[in-house]
Amino acid sequence: MVTASHVLDRVLVLEMVRVTEAAAVAASRLIGRGDEKAADHAAVEAMREALNQLELDGTVVIGEGERDEAPMLFIGEKVGQAQGTGPRIDIALDPLEGTTITAKAGPNALAVLAIAEEGGLLNAPDVYMEKLAIGPGYPKGTVDLNRSASDNVRSVAAAKGVDPSDIIVCVLDRPRHEKLIAELRSLGCGIQLIPDGDVAGVIAVTDPDTTVDIYMGQGGAPEGVLAAAALRCVGGQFQGRLVFRNDDERARAAKWGVTDLDRVYHLNELAKGDVIFAATGVTDGSLLAGVKRKKGSTSTDSVVMRASTGTVRWVRGEHRHEPGR
Ligand code: FBP
Repeated sequence: MVTASHVLDRVLVLEMVRVTEAAAVAASRLIGRGDEKAADHAAVEAMREALNQLELDGTVVIGEGERDEAPMLFIGEKVGQAQGTGPRIDIALDPLEGTTITAKAGPNALAVLAIAEEGGLLNAPDVYMEKLAIGPGYPKGTVDLNRSASDNVRSVAAAKGVDPSDIIVCVLDRPRHEKLIAELRSLGCGIQLIPDGDVAGVIAVTDPDTTVDIYMGQGGAPEGVLAAAALRCVGGQFQGRLVFRNDDERARAAKWGVTDLDRVYHLNELAKGDVIFAATGVTDGSLLAGVKRKKGSTSTDSVVMRASTGTVRWVRGEHRHEPGR
C-alpha cells in the first residue's frame, strides 16, 4: 500500500518545486507593474494548474481564503489527479507571498508551499499571528512568547555570548509595531524593518549569512504556518499566538475549532509529522534569487526541504520552455 509518507519521500519532493516554479514564473511577468491583484491571480492560476497535474488526493488547508472569498485555491479545495485513490495530503500554500513587493519590484517575494500528511498542518484562520522565531543551535526554551521582547533578546544574547545590543531583530514595518520597535531600540538592538514578506523574514533567522538573530511581531497566521513548516525542516524555534482583534475574528476562531484564544503554538503544533516545504524566488531576496529571463531561457531559484530527513535541496532551474507558456 502506498502510504502518504512513502509518497512524500519518493515522489513529491521535487514535484513541489515544479509547483512553486510555475507560480513564481507566472507572477514574475507582473514584477514592477504596480498591479498586486494581477500578480497574485497569475501565481494562483499557475500553482493550481501545476497541483492538479500531481498524482495525489490533496486538500488545501491554508490557501487564498475561505470558499466565498477566493475562487481558486480556497480552503477546502481538492487538488490533484488522484482524488479518492492517491495519498491524502494537506497543503498550505501562498502562490505569491509578497503581492505588494512584486507590484513594486521589491525584495523577497516568493511562491511558497508546504505539504504534510492529512491533519499535519494547523488550519489557521486568516487573522494575525504574534510570531517569535530564532535559528537552530539555541537551547530549548531560549525564547518564550509569554515573556517580554526585552527578556527574549537578553536570553538570545546570553545564549549567543554577545551583548543585547549586538542582536539583530527582524520586524515588519507597521504602525502596530511602534511599541515593540521602541522597546528594541531602548536595548540598542539592530532592527531590520521589512516592508512585507514575513515568511522570508522568519526563515532569515536560520541563515547565518543574513545576520538576523530573531524574528518578532505580528504578521499573517497562514504565513506563520508556512514559516513553521520551513523551520521544522531546517531547525530553529518558532512560537505563534493567534491575534483576534474583533468579534468577527473571534467568530472565525470558533469556526476553525480554536477554543483557547491565548494559546501559544509551538513548531510541532503548527506543522507536525513529515512535512515538505518548497519555495521559489519571484524577486531577488535573502533566501532565493528571483526569476530571470534571458534570450531563450528563464532561470528560477528554489529550495525544497523535508522535515523527516532534514534534507535541504537548492534547485536552480534553467527553463527552455517557460513553465505555463
Ligand atoms: P501578501 O503577499 O498577501 O500581500 O502578504 C504579505 C505580508 O507582508 C505577509 O508576509 C505578512 O504575513 C502579512 O502580509 C502582514 O499583513 P499586513 O500587511 O496586514 O501587515
